[in-house]
Amino acid sequence: MIPDVRAAAAHEAARRRTFAVISHPDAGKSTLTEALALHAHAITRAGAVHGKAGRRRVASDWMEMEKARGISITAAVLQFAHRGCVLNLLDTPGHADFSEDTYRVLAAVDCAVMLIDAAKGLEEQTRKLFDVCRHRGIPVITFVNKWDRPGREALQLLDEIEREFRLRPTPVTWPVGDAGNLRGLIAVRTPGQMLRYTRTLGGAQEAVEEAIPAEQAAAEEGTDWDQAVEELELLRAAGAVHDQEAFLAGRTTPVFFGAAISNIGVRLLLEAVIDLAPPPGPRELAGGGTRPVDAPFAGLVFKVQANMNPGHRDRIAFIRVCSGVFERGMTLTRAATGRPFATKYAHSLFGQDRSTVDIAYPGDVVGLVNAHSLRVGDTLYAGQAAVFPPIPSFAPEHFAVARPVDVSRSKQFRRSIAQLDEEGVVQVLVSDLRGEQAPVLAAVGPMQFEVVTARMAGEFSAPVRLEPLPYRLALATDAAGAEALGRSRIRGEALTRVRDKAQLALFRNHWQADLLQRDFPGVRLDQLIAAHG
Ligand code: G4P
Repeated sequence: MIPDVRAAAAHEAARRRTFAVISHPDAGKSTLTEALALHAHAITRAGAVHGKAGRRRVASDWMEMEKARGISITAAVLQFAHRGCVLNLLDTPGHADFSEDTYRVLAAVDCAVMLIDAAKGLEEQTRKLFDVCRHRGIPVITFVNKWDRPGREALQLLDEIEREFRLRPTPVTWPVGDAGNLRGLIAVRTPGQMLRYTRTLGGAQEAVEEAIPAEQAAAEEGTDWDQAVEELELLRAAGAVHDQEAFLAGRTTPVFFGAAISNIGVRLLLEAVIDLAPPPGPRELAGGGTRPVDAPFAGLVFKVQANMNPGHRDRIAFIRVCSGVFERGMTLTRAATGRPFATKYAHSLFGQDRSTVDIAYPGDVVGLVNAHSLRVGDTLYAGQAAVFPPIPSFAPEHFAVARPVDVSRSKQFRRSIAQLDEEGVVQVLVSDLRGEQAPVLAAVGPMQFEVVTARMAGEFSAPVRLEPLPYRLALATDAAGAEALGRSRIRGEALTRVRDKAQLALFRNHWQADLLQRDFPGVRLDQLIAAHG
């Protein structure tokens, strides 16, 4: 690569921050995304992106389509510039469409913002997503949201994070006033003042932030101020102080408080993403070693999205640029096959907006349209060959037997199921007992099954009937484990995952798995979260 291009890649990488917000549905992810975009002036009025009630709703056909189908058909990537940095905020689909896609997005980010509802604390999906962050070594910044509503005590929330995640919370902002009585925030770096916020109607504009000197805050806020100062002192004495090295190593999490709906505390979070989140760095290669950001282009396909509208059967492959400079039109090599791959149709996407991308740098996400041959986990590169490690398969929790509605189309049925498996839409499990015509589909979220049903009927003309199975737990086992399960009194089942030939034992619950372990001591049953990451 010519020196200028190398220098450009290194320079641009250094000012990129690529992150995702992880949270449980309803914690306020959409609201926070908008608030961040608003503060970075990427949008002029909150509500433009997600159209929340009470704000100006931007009607879009795209959203209508999403609503009608009840699933998110886009992986939004919001790119905005702030303080000379370029931020890429990757959307993790929330709500009912929680699926493997949500996890895979985390293969494409360098940092995560963990959003917690002040009243609810750590919730189920937050826990799962945090597990993936920990497994992948992604540093986590915490934002405690909805402080404008009654909730738990701040110290209690920190305690919960420390106890349950074995992650040391280090507050960077601290609330003055309990949840539901938000008087202001103290930025730990400037303890001699309180930031007071004036809300705008419905949070459509940035909140006005005013720095109040300590004496005035003490006089005006009384015990609320005293308590906040006391708590901060306590935390400092206990050593709960931000340490960049410990944060990057995943041992601590800087904590912020606020109310995304009123844009309170959001500016400080945005600054933290720039100041604390790491820029794209050298990326590990499958065969050992790393690919530095200024090496020739290499990118990882972390998501493939088939548009389910039969009128537009395009398929978009989302690629995270890991090294070098991406230029539209360049011919790359697909590592899986060694074949050339043309990149004429490169786009950046956010919501319904698609714009053509001409150039992209490490940390950016490019959507390649009509990239039919690309699969999740593929590496594309220019120049010196690179292969990134595969994106792990995640522990499925929903299982269903798939059968062709029309048995005369069974060949098409098998081919289509295999295609969906390769794309990573669902995991396909087989066993001799069930036979080829009755594979078991395994999913992280039930919405994946709806995608299968719709695509099999609409795209592949091989309608499928899904019969749910009562299992909720899959553990990795081996031939001996499968055999033991077959002989046992437990109603479980052992199957082989087609994608990686892993032997999985399916159970209705943990209790049944424990029972098998008790009856057959020494049998192998391992947690699956990222079985081959
Ligand atoms: P999600 O993407 O994580 O699912 O959450 P979303 O932003 O949709 O927010 C979920 C609900 O929480 C919304 O209320 C939203 O207005 C509210 N919310 C978000 N942040 C805050 C906050 O800081 N304080 C308070 N009090 N509420 C917050 P909703 O009633 O479900 O929807 P809407 O009618 O407000 O649109």
